[in-house]
Amino acid sequence: MDLSTLISRKWFCVVDLDVCAAIHAEVLASLRPCAEEVLRLKVVSSKIIAAVEEHGVPAMLVGSVARGTWISGDRDLDIFMLFPPDLTREELEVQGMSLARLVAARFSAKGVEKYAEHPYLHMIYPDGEISLHIDLVPCYAVESASCILSAVDRTPFHTRYMQERIGPYTDDVLLFKQFTKSAGVYGSDLMTEGFSGYLCEVLILAYQGFFNLLQSIVTWKPGFVLDIESHQAEEFGAPLVVIDPVDPRRNVSASVSLSKLFACIEYAAGYLKDPSPLFFSLHSVPLLSRDEVVMQCSKRGTALWCMVFSTPPGPADTIVPQLRKSSESLVQLFVRHDFRPVRWDVWMGEERCMLLFEFMEGVIPSYRRHIGPPISAWEHAERFLKMYQEPFSCLSGPYIQDGRYVVELVRRYCSVSDLILSQEVFSVALGKQVRVSLREGFSLVSPGEAYAPDCAAFLSAYLQYSSPLIRLHRERGV
Ligand code: CTP
Ligand code: MG
Repeated sequence: MDLSTLISRKWFCVVDLDVCAAIHAEVLASLRPCAEEVLRLKVVSSKIIAAVEEHGVPAMLVGSVARGTWISGDRDLDIFMLFPPDLTREELEVQGMSLARLVAARFSAKGVEKYAEHPYLHMIYPDGEISLHIDLVPCYAVESASCILSAVDRTPFHTRYMQERIGPYTDDVLLFKQFTKSAGVYGSDLMTEGFSGYLCEVLILAYQGFFNLLQSIVTWKPGFVLDIESHQAEEFGAPLVVIDPVDPRRNVSASVSLSKLFACIEYAAGYLKDPSPLFFSLHSVPLLSRDEVVMQCSKRGTALWCMVFSTPPGPADTIVPQLRKSSESLVQLFVRHDFRPVRWDVWMGEERCMLLFEFMEGVIPSYRRHIGPPISAWEHAERFLKMYQEPFSCLSGPYIQDGRYVVELVRRYCSVSDLILSQEVFSVALGKQVRVSLREGFSLVSPGEAYAPDCAAFLSAYLQYSSPLIRLHRERGV
């Protein structure tokens, strides 16, 4: 039976629930944290909360650990420090960070300052053989999530809301989180553009279970709206709209791109059609060697160019959107010069970044057709003729075609690499820090030349690009 037939049917008629139940039981055995892990995290979080509260600042464990919805091994703790709302933003940052550093020092933990909407401390807490990653985040203790002063102020409300409701669906959340991880759509960061942990919980709660949720997902169309508290107070134009149960003005799924939404729909349909534990395992794209990259590129016969430059300072959440914006603007420049980009992507590494462009051809003829005004618009037509009256100013023309003047000219850039290496690149809207870094210098190389351990996974993924379900089918040899 094909997917479209299946989607239009009642799922429960065709899906073997016993098979799914057996798969879920098998998968859950490795997803559920064991009693020791639960206890360990409880002990450590209580110690840290006590250390914060000794300084007179209330603290709270939030995120998936507070709600019992973390996947075994994802040992990340999110601890929020709740400051009075009458502090200025600067006071919150200064007091919050100095308290966070004091706490980190107290446990001899390494602290790295990070930045979301405002700074927080990422602490690496030595815990036996494994280290725990703990985020110490200052926020305002506001009265309700609809009167937040900073984006992170909502998080304690998410925690309280879910703690009261999600308990019976803990296993379903684990299954859905792992399912979205396997599909490559888990994570609300700008590189992933997928589903956050909290979004997974809201969806599970709305459909009361993993299986029901998948049945609904396969029927979703872009623009689907879910509002479990029926309190939506704003319209959103995103591909998926899930109104935050604690804030009527927030779309919890604002991070989900159209492609990732459909990747999830495709994966869910694939699972319901032919369930397998493989839908819960992590799939990585086979890593290509440099020679394989070179071979694949030559097989495509396209022109692939990588602009490689130093990674600008700043967090990925700032730089990645700038890389995307820059690549989009450059694509428009290439199109204006008659090159035909087919696909492009961006990559940010620790030390260097890459804008990768693929074109149908890297060199195009010098010949360029330029269409002038209609002869009937005589004033414009005359001006046009004046511009091209010198015999050597054009290859042919001006001549008349379909009532307009046309000239055939020699183009400025026949080779896309010449265009990329020209000053034209800086005439388009590049991201601010990306522009600075590109100005300092970039190299323009082929994927084979750019290949190094840091970007091997990116280049491999680009060349073997496919949807998550296809990846899984290939792995299964279907
Ligand atoms: N949060 C949010 N929206 C996001 C990311 C985070 O509202 N896009 C809030 C949620 O309240 C979330 C908390 O910040 O629970 C902590 O974020 P994170 O650790 O990323 O998510 P978890 O829910 O803890 O999931 P995970 O198991 O992946 O850690
Ligand atoms: Mg977390």
